[in-house]
Amino acid sequence: MSEHNNVYPVRDSIAAKAWADKDKYAAMYQQSMDDPEGFWGEQAKRLDWIKPPSKIKNTSFARDNVDIRWFEDGELNVAANCLDRHLEKRGDQTAIIWEGDNPNESKHISYRELYERTNQLANGLKSLGIKKGDTVTLYMPMIPEAAMAMLACARIGAVHSVVFGGFSPDAVAQRVIGADSKLVITADESVRGGKHVPLKENVDSALKRDGTDVCKNVLVVKRTGGDIDWQEGRDIWFDELVDKQSTECPAEAMNAEDPLFILYTSGSTGAPKGLKHTTGGYLTYAAMTHQYVFDYQEGEIYWCTADVGWVTGHSYIVYGPLANGATTLMFEGVPSYPTHGRMGEIVDKHQVNILYTAPTAVRALMAHGDGVMDSSKRDSLRLLGSVGEPINPEAWEWFYRVIGNEKCPIVDTWWQTETGGIMIAPLPGATDLKPGSATTPFFGVKPALVDNEGHQLEGATEGNLVILDSWPGQARSIWGDHERFVQTYFSTYDGMYFTGDGCRRDEDGYYWITGRVDDVLNVSGHRMGTAEIESSLVAHSAVAEAAVVGFPHDIKGQGIYIYVTLNDGIDPTDELKKELTQWVRKDIGPIASPDVIQWAPGLPKTRSGKIMRRILRKIAANECDGLGDTSTLADPSVVDDLIEHRANQ
Ligand code: WT7
Repeated sequence: MSEHNNVYPVRDSIAAKAWADKDKYAAMYQQSMDDPEGFWGEQAKRLDWIKPPSKIKNTSFARDNVDIRWFEDGELNVAANCLDRHLEKRGDQTAIIWEGDNPNESKHISYRELYERTNQLANGLKSLGIKKGDTVTLYMPMIPEAAMAMLACARIGAVHSVVFGGFSPDAVAQRVIGADSKLVITADESVRGGKHVPLKENVDSALKRDGTDVCKNVLVVKRTGGDIDWQEGRDIWFDELVDKQSTECPAEAMNAEDPLFILYTSGSTGAPKGLKHTTGGYLTYAAMTHQYVFDYQEGEIYWCTADVGWVTGHSYIVYGPLANGATTLMFEGVPSYPTHGRMGEIVDKHQVNILYTAPTAVRALMAHGDGVMDSSKRDSLRLLGSVGEPINPEAWEWFYRVIGNEKCPIVDTWWQTETGGIMIAPLPGATDLKPGSATTPFFGVKPALVDNEGHQLEGATEGNLVILDSWPGQARSIWGDHERFVQTYFSTYDGMYFTGDGCRRDEDGYYWITGRVDDVLNVSGHRMGTAEIESSLVAHSAVAEAAVVGFPHDIKGQGIYIYVTLNDGIDPTDELKKELTQWVRKDIGPIASPDVIQWAPGLPKTRSGKIMRRILRKIAANECDGLGDTSTLADPSVVDDLIEHRANQ
């Protein structure tokens, strides 16, 4: 289809006022490559330092010495950069617009209010014995207290670990143990799409597991007033603790390389890993990318629809926007409630200028037809953004035409939990757009494509996406397991950061991410390891073996397709399928719900016993004609059986 080769040139009206036009992007990018020290030393000045750094970059990607330091002798405080320094100029400006799940509920929180409440909470945390270097787990709804909790931790030098509110008690327990958290901050319940989610009950259940006794207190925001159990001595109401505290709390001087947060994410093997992000480089990078990629202009209303449980929420709801003195909108609910017009209605209600969302949300709206946007005008929009997975050109065009009224550039931003901030994306005033391409690298980012042996490929080509040198926002390690960090990201190709993504580069040097090349799924922009789902399934008494693969899904991008081999004597019934579905939801969380379960009397394996996922992926995608070479299988006949009994999706 020809429309998929469309190019959308930069608009003059945008370039004229943008932070960067074509020439400026080219010059700055070149400088960031030629002189990273000079470039980032200058950029670090966008922050307020207690002690400005004299050393800028000290980084090594060498397999035997992965060591990443930025601004290593500098000292600063992230909360002071997001709050204190704005008070004089914009104390009364709205920092956070909060829009409730219920369309009649919203509020505006000024920078001064956010500063005072955050300080009170910081003092409250101190009164519970939380100090610099301690870790705190947050399991919270999308309410302003979530941002306050992150900032309060940052203020006193505690390290937060936010766990997405859709995860299960097991996931909470795993992360409390992994990070050694003394405190969990949660709410009685969260509210999404009119439904209540029992967060406190989940925490209670999590803290019954072995190993969680490191956690001494649970701080509970009263969100709904719903019924909850209460453990005297352990549980504390948020308001009761916070109301009585002073609104002044000195900001702890943190070294630039002190940890700011841990964030767990899934990989191709093993349990989720806690990426460690640090202070000075992370904030410099989050703030700079937020300014340039969204071309954020003074006074604009900016809305990122992510959840604070993901890195997008960290960098582009809280830290980047607040460091820049922006007004950031935080939405508690889901885009389909009470109706599918909600997203557009919120844009109108709060006069949103910049809307940053996910392809899956766009596709879900698109499935309802253009009329789904009739309840809103969206005249205030100036810019759109996309993140989480490749955006297919059809969805891009619909986003542009129907949501953006054909007047807003779309910035398709490729990045990862590990990268801390946006890596490949257009700049609105500098980059001509091609639907489906994340386009070109941000300042300081040096992408390359390599073949499976690690040889760099030149020109228009396709390969594995690596990054050749460090940028300030990148994760420094895996919490408590540096060796795993090295193994996962730096040992596949020596001296290079391996992203896990496949990618094409076209004749204009534009990057087109093609998706993960490892055993990681991307379901509605949520990242999941196939190994995690498999290990959940095999823990069920009926299951002998399980193999999980992704398959193309119209709305979610990828769906979850599961092949299950049952133990001898177990009947393969529909009831059992339902039970296994519930099992995985309970174990990991609703985001891991299987889309398809197929009974598999046998799985295709090599003679050495390795499951051939390539074949399973093809069958799941209904591409049974192109299975390729099956002669290396121990028993090729299992493939015929799987094709014959292929489950309908
Ligand atoms: C993986 C990272 C970055 C915050 C949200 C997800 C995929 C992300 C894009 C994009 C194509 C994308 C990649 C990446 N991805 N953004 N614009 N185009 N793919 O963070 O959970 O760490 O997942 O999401 O596969 O590796 P994450």
